[in-house]
Amino acid sequence: MEYLGMDIGFGDVKAVLVNRELETLKAISFPTLVAGYTPAPLEKDKTVLCFGGKKYVLGRDARGEPGCFQLSDFDDMKEFAPLLFRKVLQTDGFEGNEIAVCAGMPPGWWPQRGEVANALRAEMQTVVVVPQGQGAFVAVQEEKDLEGVETVLILDFGYNTVDYLLMEITKYGEFEIIKGNTLPRLGVTKLVKLFRGELKGELSELPDRALKEMLRTGQGKLYGENINLSGHKRRAVEKYCAMLMGELKSNVGETWRETDAVICTGGGFTTLNPK
Ligand SMILES: Nc1ncnc2c1ncn2[C@@H]1O[C@H](COP(=O)(O)OP(=O)(O)OP(=O)(O)O)[C@@H](O)[C@H]1O
Ligand SMILES: [Mg+2]
Repeated sequence: MEYLGMDIGFGDVKAVLVNRELETLKAISFPTLVAGYTPAPLEKDKTVLCFGGKKYVLGRDARGEPGCFQLSDFDDMKEFAPLLFRKVLQTDGFEGNEIAVCAGMPPGWWPQRGEVANALRAEMQTVVVVPQGQGAFVAVQEEKDLEGVETVLILDFGYNTVDYLLMEITKYGEFEIIKGNTLPRLGVTKLVKLFRGELKGELSELPDRALKEMLRTGQGKLYGENINLSGHKRRAVEKYCAMLMGELKSNVGETWRETDAVICTGGGFTTLNPK
């Protein structure tokens, strides 16, 4: 039996296949892009998938297709999760018959987890759904000594959203989720928007992808000239943190400041790079 961990994010699909007997682990990620397929006489090899009577291409294959789109809400996610899932299962090294799937679900959609699990079961029999963020907690728990830590706040900085989980560690290292939610419009996209607001002229008109990289490094480049953007970054991050803290305060009160530990995860954390 192999185990497939899946996280279908708004920004990227992440998947990890673990074989405990062989002690192997394979990981892939691709952008969460979907497009109807329009064949062209000259094109690279693409994986074309049929779904609901239509032909689709996904991930990097969707780039350059007319009508290429990103998922924008729960309904999109529910509709296209099985297709994205199938794309993972058609990736080299991920095709297998005996695979149990563990899919991460944003905590804000927890009440609808059954719908997503059922949609995935159309592709694969054994599906378990866990709240996103729990995996980061388990990984930290395996690696670090959490003795004396009773309460933990997990923050998952995503593309569109920030998920939080407030956890309590009971005796023998078992844990319980006290509360969790998805904070919409607070992911990296928000941070990039704030950063853009700090910039002037041509820099402020660059695409999100370019600004994200400048945000990560605090350095910009225009016509070959290096520009120090650390001040712009600092101001954007300060505004972002104030918003995030305001949201956390209205969700969990001051409790979040009083937890014994905070675990930050998600691709957005790399971009944010907070002190
Ligand atoms: N190693 C990295 N270095 C820099 N940026 C990264 C890295 N990994 C991911 N990112 C960026 O961080 C952002 C968030 O990535 P992540 O995979 O956590 O989002 P997501 O799970 O797809 O979004 P959401 O949780 O909102 O559904 C993306 O814009 C991604 O490009
Ligand atoms: Mg995510």
